Amino acid sequence: MILHNPIDMHLHIRQGTMLQKVLPWSADYFSSAVIMPNITPPVTSLQRVQEYKQEILACKDNFTPLLDVFLQKFTKEEIEQLKPHIFAMKFYPDGITTNSNSGINGIEEIYPTLELLAQYNIPLSIHGETNASVLEREREFAKVYEKLAQDFPNLTIIMEHISTKELANLATKYDNLLATVTLHHLLLSIDDLCGGALNVHYFCKPTVKLASDKEALGELVKSGHKNVMFGSDSAPHPLKNKFKGAAGIFSAPVILPKLAEFFDGDWDTFQKFISTNAIENFNLEFTPKKVEIVEDEWVVPRMIGEVVPIFAGERLPFSVKVVDEID
Ligand code: DOR
Ligand code: ZN
Repeated sequence: MILHNPIDMHLHIRQGTMLQKVLPWSADYFSSAVIMPNITPPVTSLQRVQEYKQEILACKDNFTPLLDVFLQKFTKEEIEQLKPHIFAMKFYPDGITTNSNSGINGIEEIYPTLELLAQYNIPLSIHGETNASVLEREREFAKVYEKLAQDFPNLTIIMEHISTKELANLATKYDNLLATVTLHHLLLSIDDLCGGALNVHYFCKPTVKLASDKEALGELVKSGHKNVMFGSDSAPHPLKNKFKGAAGIFSAPVILPKLAEFFDGDWDTFQKFISTNAIENFNLEFTPKKVEIVEDEWVVPRMIGEVVPIFAGERLPFSVKVVDEID
C-alpha cells in the first residue's frame, strides 16, 4: 500500500550527534514533522528558531521541519516576528517533563499571550498534565482543556499525546480542540510497562495507561475523525539515561510498519491519521513524499547510536520503502 506525505505532528530530535543519528529515521520517510522546542537552551526566540532550523536542514534538506516555540509571555511585536517562522507555541506546565523548567505555572498568567495567538492564528500545543498522582495527571488536566477551548473559540488548541479515555472523548467535542495520538499509547498499557519486569523503553510522559484507555484511543483513531492526528512523541534518550529514569520512547524507526499492523487493511483511515487530517486542519506545506508499506519482514535494530528504539530486536511483518520524491 502507498502512503502519501506522512506527517509527524510531534517529534523530538534533540541536537548535535544525537540529531544526526535520529533525524534520518523521520526525515527519510516523512514529508514533515512538528519539532519540539524542549532542547537546551529551549527554543524561545526567533534566533533559536533559525539556528535550530538550520541545524535540521543541514542534516536533511528533503524534509520540512515545522518548529514549535516554547510558550512564554510574548509581546505583540515578538509574536509578529515569530509568526512566519513557526508552526505553533508549545505549553509545558512548569517542570512537568524533560527540559520543561521554564514553563508556566498558572494558565491565567498567559491569557494575554493566548489572545495574541488567536489573533495571529498561531496554534497552541499543550502537554496536558497536572502534578497530581501519575495516572490522574492527564484526566485532571481535561478541565483546563475544556476551559481553554471555551474561553478562546478562535484559538486552535492541540492536546498532545492523549493517553486516556476521557481525552479520547474530549477530542471530538470542540472544533478548536484537536488531538495527537502516539504509536505507543495505541499499542501499550501500564501492564506492558511494569506488569511484569519493568521495561524502561516503554517509559514516557504521559505514561501509558490502562487497557481500557488504550482501547478508547484505538477506537478514536480508527474513527478517522478529522480532529485526530498522528504525533509520535518519539523522544530518544541515551541508554545510560534511561536507566537513570529518563522519560521518552524512541519510536521513529518503527512508526509506519507498526501502524500498518494496527490499521490492518483500513488504509483510508491510515492515510487520514498519518497525513490528511493534519494537512487539512493546518493547510500545511511540506516536501512531497510517497512511501510504500510492503509485506517484507524486518528486524528492528537493537541500538541506533546510543539509543535503544522501542521494539528493538523484534521481527516486524511490514517494512517501508520510499517510492519516489517529487520535486
Ligand atoms: O516522555 C516524554 N519525553 N514526554 C515528554 O513530554 C518529553 C519527552 C522528552 O523530551 O524526552
Ligand atoms: Zn513530546
